[in-house]
Amino acid sequence: MKKKIVTIVGARPQFIKAAALSREISKNNDTEEIIVHTGQHYDKNMSDIFFEEMKIPKPHYNLNINGLSHGAMTGQMLEKIEVVLIKEKPDVVVIYGDTNSTIAGALAAKKLHIKVVHIEAGLRSFNMKMPEEINRILTDRISNILFCPTDMAIENLKKEGYDNIDCEIIKSGDLMLDTAIFYSKYEKKPDFELPAKFILTTIHRAENTDNTERLVSIFNALKIIATHTAVILPIHPRTKKIIDKLKISTEKLIIIPPVGYLEIIYLLKRTSLVMTDSGGMQKEAFFFKKPCLTLRDETEWVELVKNNFNIIVGAETNTIINNYNKIIKSSLNYEMDLYGNGKAAKNILQNLINII
Ligand code: UD1
Ligand code: UDP
Repeated sequence: MKKKIVTIVGARPQFIKAAALSREISKNNDTEEIIVHTGQHYDKNMSDIFFEEMKIPKPHYNLNINGLSHGAMTGQMLEKIEVVLIKEKPDVVVIYGDTNSTIAGALAAKKLHIKVVHIEAGLRSFNMKMPEEINRILTDRISNILFCPTDMAIENLKKEGYDNIDCEIIKSGDLMLDTAIFYSKYEKKPDFELPAKFILTTIHRAENTDNTERLVSIFNALKIIATHTAVILPIHPRTKKIIDKLKISTEKLIIIPPVGYLEIIYLLKRTSLVMTDSGGMQKEAFFFKKPCLTLRDETEWVELVKNNFNIIVGAETNTIINNYNKIIKSSLNYEMDLYGNGKAAKNILQNLINII
């Protein structure tokens, strides 16, 4: 009998990670996958576009839970995921990353004694104010199989005493590299006039959007940079709602709605620089050989900083500008194996089949 895998996704980066493993599962005769979309991201350009463009199998369930406070969102997801798991009786539940959909999926499965598989385990920012840090620590602790993308992730778990915890820790490499390699050839030009030279930026993290001083300070830096190089900002709905409400000026910036993954690849390949608070975009800058300024006070992807591919610049206007001037002059050699060989999905599935 085929092993049944229930995959729980809900947010944009999870669709992008699941794309690689879902393709691998569908090619394998010993496994079947049921995809549960919690509904956390729901706009067409935050959800459907990824399933369509990346040919991810359509979710079997959409729980339609979104736009709520952390407690309400996580609680409702927990309740509805439990119903699905009782019905489907999977051999394992696979969850990705560190969102509210991740912790809800892990908890629902664990309480039903279903094996929990955490992909992108072991990452730490050491900032317990971040909702993502809380989600990832709790998810790791109740997972049975922890697939770590980097050596640092494994080291973090060891420091937390995971040698004494009954779980399997496996270094898998990073699924986002598999995805970047596979879809690179399908890049798609976005539907607007592209400047010859530009900087690609994204902002959506709570620590920036929910702190007016930080948000204004970041936008001030972007506007200064935009006086000589075009700045393209595909804007996350969270950020759009807040800048509209606070009437933060975005004059001189090229603000566009969120784009699909094939368009973001097109932009990543042609940008001079990435400026972002996104976790995924920091790594993609490296995959596409572009320097990156991280608009946060710390990162989980420390190997990028250690090797000078990425500078942590926080949110202060002058610090951002000074580091911008520094990084655009740097010349970097990107031939380093930080995230595996682009075969993380194969590795993960093979290990899963052996264990379950
Ligand atoms: C979530 C994750 C974050 C991840 C990000 C990826 C948590 C705690 N946070 O943050 O780790 O980096 O996804 O993008 O899970 N909204 C829309 N349309 C959408 C999606 C969201 O309008 O399609 C609005 C909602 O009204 C909501 C706000 O954006 O109030 C924030 O959405 P939410 O899913 O709570 O968190 P993200 O900021 O997207
Ligand atoms: N992304 C996208 N369209 C956009 C902005 C980002 O497809 O308009 C992709 C990006 O390339 C990366 C993923 O979304 O693969 C990152 O998601 P996000 O920044 O929302 O979340 P994080 O990685 O910070 O959790």
